Amino acid sequence: MVILAIETSCDETAIAILKASGGLKNPRFKILSNTVASQIKIHAKWGGVVPNLAKREHIKNLPIVFKKAISKSGLKNPEKKIDFIAVTIGPGLEPALWTGINFASDLSKVWGKPIIAVNHMEGHIVASLLSSKIKNQKSKIDFPALALLVSGGHTELVLMRKWLDYKIIGQTRDDAAGEAFDKVAKMLGLPYPGGPQVAKLADKKTSSVEERNGKTLDVEIKLPRPMINSKNYDFSFSGLKTAVLYLIRGLEKNYELRITNYALRVAICAEFQQAVIDVLISKTIRATKEYKVKTLILGGGVSANQELRKQLGEKIKKEIPNTEYLIPNTKYTGDNAAMIAAAAYFHALKKDFTDWKKLKANGNLSL
Ligand code: KG4
Ligand code: ZN
Repeated sequence: MVILAIETSCDETAIAILKASGGLKNPRFKILSNTVASQIKIHAKWGGVVPNLAKREHIKNLPIVFKKAISKSGLKNPEKKIDFIAVTIGPGLEPALWTGINFASDLSKVWGKPIIAVNHMEGHIVASLLSSKIKNQKSKIDFPALALLVSGGHTELVLMRKWLDYKIIGQTRDDAAGEAFDKVAKMLGLPYPGGPQVAKLADKKTSSVEERNGKTLDVEIKLPRPMINSKNYDFSFSGLKTAVLYLIRGLEKNYELRITNYALRVAICAEFQQAVIDVLISKTIRATKEYKVKTLILGGGVSANQELRKQLGEKIKKEIPNTEYLIPNTKYTGDNAAMIAAAAYFHALKKDFTDWKKLKANGNLSL
């Protein structure tokens, strides 16, 4: 089965062509092409994604990205070789989602191919099954499976008892994990998107906070772990972000430390990142035990975070060694269309197609 997928839910214009085989029992994916045009530079000036700017850029980029995806795939007669057109219909920015939907509809009409509507988060779940996966990692999901999805818009624990069967057992009540990373980055004067910047600084962790004038100040940088002991599987990161704000204010006032101080930034980033990781890991491990999960999947933009990947892996090995741990190659942690095509394969196997006339963007679409 050859699937062409279109993803325009946020600030990446992405089209991929994927060859899928093996069925529900043994799904295998070969990426023929995976093209992404990033708009980061355009939105960075505004400190975040501007929906109408994203829409304009998607409309401009889609035909170019499409041509590139076709040519890179090496398919001679794409309209004959491609079986289905998949498209992200939500969640995301509606003006941006519509550009992909309109493009997919046009293509479906011209080529006479069925459309598969995909939830963006389904893509993040299956990203770890794509080719060039992690070494020694299984490419199979055994059920029940649990996905910890951490992105700019979502933080959720999704239980799957079979393919296409999703139950959200916990989610954030306010900010998503990625959103909190981005907001903390902004407070520290780091450019958008801040997640990778915060992670990079956190990596340089030092134990003491030194002022540039050589005076050494040992200040304890400690942040809360919101909801870590709550009995449910929900998260909350908005308070953590506010705690960072008060911490910065306090340090500036009481210690006359400037946030431009490199060592201070490093200490804050490291403690903030660890606070997020501690809460994510604690709830995920508890849910894995309660639901007797066989495969634990990590996905979403924040799954690029090396410390999160590593620490979750170590905890699984120690506490639940029989649980299989799947993480996406960092090529596929961010938004891309290959993961949308892979998710579409499972819909295609169940003959779950949508008429282009019925397609509709849904910014708040849930799994
Ligand atoms: O999945 P994604 O690409 O887009 C959405 O669907 O939202 O996720 C983007 C989010 C952003 O908030 C970004 O800052 C965050 O993922 N992110 C990271 C890292 N890389 C990307 N957060 C923490 N550490 C990283 N290394
Ligand atoms: Zn995403």
